[in-house]
Amino acid sequence: MAQEAAMSEAGINPVLTDHEARELRLLIEQRSGIVFDESRERFLTSRVLEQMERKGLTYGAELLRLVRCSNVEFDSMLERLLTQETSFLRYPALFSAFQQHVLPDLQERKLRDRDHALRILSAGCASGEEPYSIALSVCEAVGPRAELEASIMATDISHEALERAERGVYGRRVLANLSSAQISNYFSKVEDSYEVKPQLRSMVKFAPMNLAQLMYLGRFDCIFCMNVMIYFGAELRSNLIQSFHRYLEPGGYLFLGHAESVANIPVKFNQTIMNGTRLLQKPLDQSACHIRAAGDGR
Ligand SMILES: C[S@@+](CC[C@H](N)C(=O)[O-])C[C@H]1O[C@@H](n2cnc3c(N)ncnc32)[C@H](O)[C@@H]1O
Repeated sequence: MAQEAAMSEAGINPVLTDHEARELRLLIEQRSGIVFDESRERFLTSRVLEQMERKGLTYGAELLRLVRCSNVEFDSMLERLLTQETSFLRYPALFSAFQQHVLPDLQERKLRDRDHALRILSAGCASGEEPYSIALSVCEAVGPRAELEASIMATDISHEALERAERGVYGRRVLANLSSAQISNYFSKVEDSYEVKPQLRSMVKFAPMNLAQLMYLGRFDCIFCMNVMIYFGAELRSNLIQSFHRYLEPGGYLFLGHAESVANIPVKFNQTIMNGTRLLQKPLDQSACHIRAAGDGR
């Protein structure tokens, strides 16, 4: 059944047939890994109809032609379909385990090995709240005089989200999990908004990256990929977790969202529960990494 939007002010009444919607779903999954299953079908259709209206297109076939021929047009449509919900210290218990257990563990090993670089990846960073929360946690746990230089590489498929992240200016709502001391230490108040101070800003580098075409960016001590893979199919999820495992240093940590796990994926992570949070650590002993342990994962 063809889906139609209400007649717009511009007089356009876009129409998208089931076949066209299916073709779009396939194209989106091929290029971005994002799966629109039945539960998200209505969301996809309404956002696509809005995009057609914005572009002055009446027929779904016109949109399909446009997004197949032009990456710019594909990206513009995809921007309307991304879920970018996020906030500072989104999971407080996870960030406190990161501060109280993970960072002291990494700092101790780094200092022992005379390695001064702490490298962290935030993949699917949305508008920057996650990587800045990581930077804030590092500042609080490691302290300014520590012989450890932290750099956070933050990536996302969305250019619009990355622009907001670069700007680093936020409304009060996304700061709800921060204490007033954290807000005054790490943000400057600009009218009704809060701007990230240079101390955090200088620790984070933003870059576009599509996780469906993951590139090797070097080795990391921690990889955060939270609430991104829930939108992907099982095969891409499995491939990504195996890549993250390869890209982690021995003893490095992987952070996933609450609904994500490494269950049934042939990689070995040691799991500990800290402050009610599950920590996934790549074994320090490389030879253990290839063992597929029964009950590996959650
Ligand atoms: C719900 S947000 C998660 C933000 C943050 N990690 C958090 O947990 O608060 C999901 C993010 O994944 C990004 N994303 C979706 N598909 C992606 C892909 N193929 N490659 C990179 N980022 C992607 C979206 O643009 C969005 O910013």
